[in-house]
Amino acid sequence: MAHQVVLGIESSCDESAAALVRSDRTIIAQAIASQDEAHRPYGGVVPEIAARAHAQVLTPMIAQVLAQAGMELDDVDAIAATAGPGLIGGVMVGLVTGKALAMASDRPLIAVNHLEGHALSARLCDETLQFPFLLLLVSGGHCQILAVHGPGQYRRLATTIDDALGEAFDKTAKILGLGYPGGPAVERLAAMGDAAAVPLPRPLKGSAEPHFSFAGLKSAVMRAHQSGEHLPEDIAAAFQQAAIDCVLDRTARALMTERVTERGMTALVVAGGVAANRRLRAALDEQAATHGLRLVAPPLALCTDNAAMIAWAGLERMAAGLVPPGGDRLDIMARP
Ligand code: KG4
Ligand code: ZN
Repeated sequence: MAHQVVLGIESSCDESAAALVRSDRTIIAQAIASQDEAHRPYGGVVPEIAARAHAQVLTPMIAQVLAQAGMELDDVDAIAATAGPGLIGGVMVGLVTGKALAMASDRPLIAVNHLEGHALSARLCDETLQFPFLLLLVSGGHCQILAVHGPGQYRRLATTIDDALGEAFDKTAKILGLGYPGGPAVERLAAMGDAAAVPLPRPLKGSAEPHFSFAGLKSAVMRAHQSGEHLPEDIAAAFQQAAIDCVLDRTARALMTERVTERGMTALVVAGGVAANRRLRAALDEQAATHGLRLVAPPLALCTDNAAMIAWAGLERMAAGLVPPGGDRLDIMARP
């Protein structure tokens, strides 16, 4: 069968991105524009600024990606756009752009759930990764453990009862005055600190409940900072260690209750922006090995928001027969 090419569009948060991906897992061309500078003065993403920036950059970016690949819109088999969840203004911009291109080129539109993009991203870079697998999805908006049985087939085993893991990193960065985006800044500072110097709680560690909680950890970081007794690098290191301990504990619980090997799972997959954290990856790698699984972690650039994962999710949905003939309906609504 001839290979298919999908144009992916991502605009659900503060990254505008476009990518052309082929069904043989080749990323033919891609571009990404981060809006970090625009949001930095506010210490977080401002939805209105994000939506305007997406509207400004997406169309020329798509033209640029096509030119880079030496392709025309007619050479593309389908157009996949993030349809949510995300900041509604941004999602609307990307989805409407996808709809317009689909109409103009008479190609099917594939409405992609952003989380499915993250969930399947590991299969874009690892062709040996088979379903089912256990997925730890850790981003700015989500913190979940899922059993992934196939495109569109997910069983949620755990979620956060308050903050997402990336959110906890971002809030810690804000408390320590590290600016935005917080995750990478906390990781850099933590590398210079002593995690044992600041006692911090591990919310829900050892709990019979499957879920995550990070709000109490964030409050403890705030108190440690306000006490004036600790160095910022020690607080950062202690926070990162406590957060990783919580993740390992919750993942261990899921691995145990899921009886992964009996269910034929061979891999633990980590995806989402926080999967870019090197300490977390190393810890998960070790944990997977003790359960007889391998850890699959996409390269850093595929962990944070990008359009290649959206195009790939589109290809997976097509291959699984989840895209209706002619594509998803053009009146599909963006989801916040
Ligand atoms: O997946 P993503 O790019 O956007 C969402 O869909 O949320 O994730 C962004 C999140 C932010 O909270 C960011 O601080 C966090 O991922 N992040 C990190 C690192 N790089 C990004 N957290 C910890 N360590 C990192 N190196
Ligand atoms: Zn994301």
